[in-house]
Amino acid sequence: MSLAAFPEAVHVRAPGKINVYLGVGGRHEDGYHALATVFQAVSLYEDVIARDADDFSVSVVGVADPDTVPVDDRNLAMRAAKMLASATGYTGGVHLELRKSVPVAGGMGGGSADAAAALVACDALWGTGVSPHRLHELAARLGADVPFALHGGTAVGTGRGDQLNPALARGRFDWVLVPSEEGLSTPEIYARLDTHRAENGALADDPPLSLDVPIPVLQALRAGDPHSLAACMFNDLEVPALLERPALDDIITEGLHAGALSGIVSGSGPTVAFLCETPESAQYVQAELEAAGRTALHVHGPVSGARIISA
Ligand code: C5P
Repeated sequence: MSLAAFPEAVHVRAPGKINVYLGVGGRHEDGYHALATVFQAVSLYEDVIARDADDFSVSVVGVADPDTVPVDDRNLAMRAAKMLASATGYTGGVHLELRKSVPVAGGMGGGSADAAAALVACDALWGTGVSPHRLHELAARLGADVPFALHGGTAVGTGRGDQLNPALARGRFDWVLVPSEEGLSTPEIYARLDTHRAENGALADDPPLSLDVPIPVLQALRAGDPHSLAACMFNDLEVPALLERPALDDIITEGLHAGALSGIVSGSGPTVAFLCETPESAQYVQAELEAAGRTALHVHGPVSGARIISA
């Protein structure tokens, strides 16, 4: 195949996620915690445009404060591109333009979505033809949430959150998201959970290193029933996120007051996700929260994982 067969630019879109359920167990020696989680990909996307270049570089569009997203090797999309190049022996580079819509450091996996999109985009740009299985392996090395951003939909994550099994989910779920201006650090929230548990004697001696998602969560998803799901949404990271940012409790109260079925901190926060009964009720909850001065976004899930928009 001639080089001319490869595109000059590839545009890939990858979704943010909500952890509908997130149980955290003990800490492994590598510092990662055992998880049992259910991810749902929602209609808030990161767009990554990869263009041929001699070197590796990243630019960012769509964030209020550019300083919050590094454009060097700390950037997960940059690391993804370099990892793919070294795994395939590709000797050129890439420029990655990240068009961000998922809140930065918001607990919705925006950086992971960038990395998943970068893997798919560079593979298409460079014509490296990496298998889905190998892409998943590379994604898992980049971060616990990256494999899910590749796959999308609704999935159970165990291990560090990177061992995925699709979960059956009927219909669509309507969510209202309230992002915060200032993000939270995921490692700090996990550390805060450990401290909190140690101080309270809970799970301090023998934390489980293998966890399961409760059956009612899976049943509610399979039934497509927002009321049942609302009754069993749960996040072990909510307590440390609220300890770090007590004002999130006010947001949860406001959303419930506006008619949401349930409100939960997403992942390590601080984004709050409200599950609503119907698209109309989500629109109402969104309008009420905005009238109270909040930024509120109406999204739905599940949606598909990283996919090529144009090449
Ligand atoms: O893998 P990722 O970069 O998303 O994880 C960020 C941090 O979150 C890790 O460095 C770790 O402190 C924490 N984490 C954890 N257990 C997990 C996933 C993440 O402790 N299963």
